Amino acid sequence: MCGIVGYIGHREAYPIILEGLKRLEYRGYDSAGIALYDGTDLNVCKTKGKVADLESRIEKESTTKGSIGIGHTRWATHGVPNNINAHPHYSNTGDLVIIHNGIIENYSALRKELISRGYSFKSDTDTEVLVNLIEDIKRKEKTKLGKAVQIALNQVVGAYAIAVFDKNKPDEIVIARLGSPLAVGVGDNEFFIASDASPFIEYTKNAIYLEDEEMAIVRLNKEIKIRKIKDDSSVDPYVQELQMNLEQIEKGGYEHFMLKEIYEQPRAILDTFRGRLLSNEAIIKMVGVEDNMKKFLNADRIIVVACGTSWHAGLVSEYIFEDLARIPVEVEYASEFRYRNPVITEKDIVIAISQSGETADTLAAIKLAKSKGAFVFGVCNVVGSSIARETHAGAYTHAGPEIGVASTKAFTTQITVLTLIALRLARAKGTISSSDFRRHLIELELIPEKVEKTLLSDKNVKTIASIYKDAKNCLYLGRGYNFPVALEGALKLKEISYIHAEGYPAAEMKHGPIALIDENMPIVVIATKMGHYEKVVSNIEEIKSREGKIIGIVTEGDETVKKLADHVIEVPETLESLTPLLTTIPLQLLSYHIAVMLDKNVDQPRNLAKSVTVE
Ligand code: F6R
Repeated sequence: MCGIVGYIGHREAYPIILEGLKRLEYRGYDSAGIALYDGTDLNVCKTKGKVADLESRIEKESTTKGSIGIGHTRWATHGVPNNINAHPHYSNTGDLVIIHNGIIENYSALRKELISRGYSFKSDTDTEVLVNLIEDIKRKEKTKLGKAVQIALNQVVGAYAIAVFDKNKPDEIVIARLGSPLAVGVGDNEFFIASDASPFIEYTKNAIYLEDEEMAIVRLNKEIKIRKIKDDSSVDPYVQELQMNLEQIEKGGYEHFMLKEIYEQPRAILDTFRGRLLSNEAIIKMVGVEDNMKKFLNADRIIVVACGTSWHAGLVSEYIFEDLARIPVEVEYASEFRYRNPVITEKDIVIAISQSGETADTLAAIKLAKSKGAFVFGVCNVVGSSIARETHAGAYTHAGPEIGVASTKAFTTQITVLTLIALRLARAKGTISSSDFRRHLIELELIPEKVEKTLLSDKNVKTIASIYKDAKNCLYLGRGYNFPVALEGALKLKEISYIHAEGYPAAEMKHGPIALIDENMPIVVIATKMGHYEKVVSNIEEIKSREGKIIGIVTEGDETVKKLADHVIEVPETLESLTPLLTTIPLQLLSYHIAVMLDKNVDQPRNLAKSVTVE
């Protein structure tokens, strides 16, 4: 994790780096720091805490001058979050300064070696080891910084995105990546460096994404030079035009990014199927699927790999693929899959789902599946991300930047893409009738409007939140398509309000969790009309007779659950397979309001980061 930013050019670097760090804070926020060269001195200011803490410190204690600089916002791996472990880190001579996102796994051996050669260390970080290793090589081999970085990285085991510069040569920054993302914004005689493109979007639309095992030197008034770290071969820079704009990464009047992103869902879902779903012609067109239709049709099974919320979207897709396209599906935690010698054949299709496209475990699962001959299809949100590039083909979700750490619109747009794929395959396989197919398309087109309508329950949800905000535990129950939604609802509550919550298939309740139910236990039950309605109603009766507090998510006009439940939240009627796109919304709002009422940091919950680039 961690976010890194750098600048070299003709402007003041500080405001660019500071604002960039604020935009990258979703990647980690336990400490932050900036190094600036002001023409005479190299000034480093860093602190435990958030970028806002750094800002107040730097303006009191340090200089903000300089047109070359680097900055870092940290999610601790080696060494607790404190002022000393915060980045940037100096080399022993104080000449080199570095920022790093990733983990150097052999740092302990390298550190011992450097200590034996007289180096000393102030911090507990692997990064301080790396910068001294570079310095040691530079001195011993009498090489330039770029070469020293290259030699050092060939001795390193682990993952990194780094930016390093030498105060004695303040006209260049050396950057490199392996396993952690790194983008370069190419301006007019200036370069921006960042973990993603958001820090430089208002300055340039031209970006280069470094590939794994590539390094680059960005120099004042010179072209960028990219090389392979292993064999020193040169790489032609591939400049992409960014589609993102500034409004997309600002709060736009909402109190939190999470709320903004919840409210963006009608638009995000529409963007996801726009151009792919043509209901008039009864067609779904997805390039990644069309181009590989034979592979999809011949597949023995689909294996979905993902983590967290994306894994929940994968679970929803299991129902959709099996139900509509009759393809067997297994849904795997990427972290388990990658380490358990799974049976994969060339007739398997692996679908990797990831909002960020950078999740280390998912990336490793993809590499494993590819090595065993499987065809790997990516469902990612971030364009140009590592997973998008590592997969054979894929479909973007088009949710737009998701900045709140708790995933919302990424989830519903992932389900939308997966539904489109399942429907397309069902049509090609003939497992769905043309009338049913058409009915699905028409209903899917109505979903943005129905999400909009569901959002009108916000006030009601807020009232319910105020009643249960002090609960210590909460259960979420659902069946069929809505079982993964129950898991997702519980995850949302846990991660932003720190209230213990668990999701269960409703029928599993009596195999254990029922023992927890008493008058203090709020239980969210998804009981929409489609699916296993009567069965869920029976589950609600069981809860009621044990005095649990029931919050029912029901279809508009439902009277049965209304009589049994303490509260109901209505969602419009839709096809069973599409209900997750609606039932998820009140659960997102419920966790949001509870977290706000408990005064938690909704957009940056403790210990979490948006993009989990370490395993
Ligand atoms: C929860 C959440 C995480 C992510 C998980 C995977 O709200 O955001 O559980 O879903 O870390 O991240 P991606 O989708 O970027 O691979």
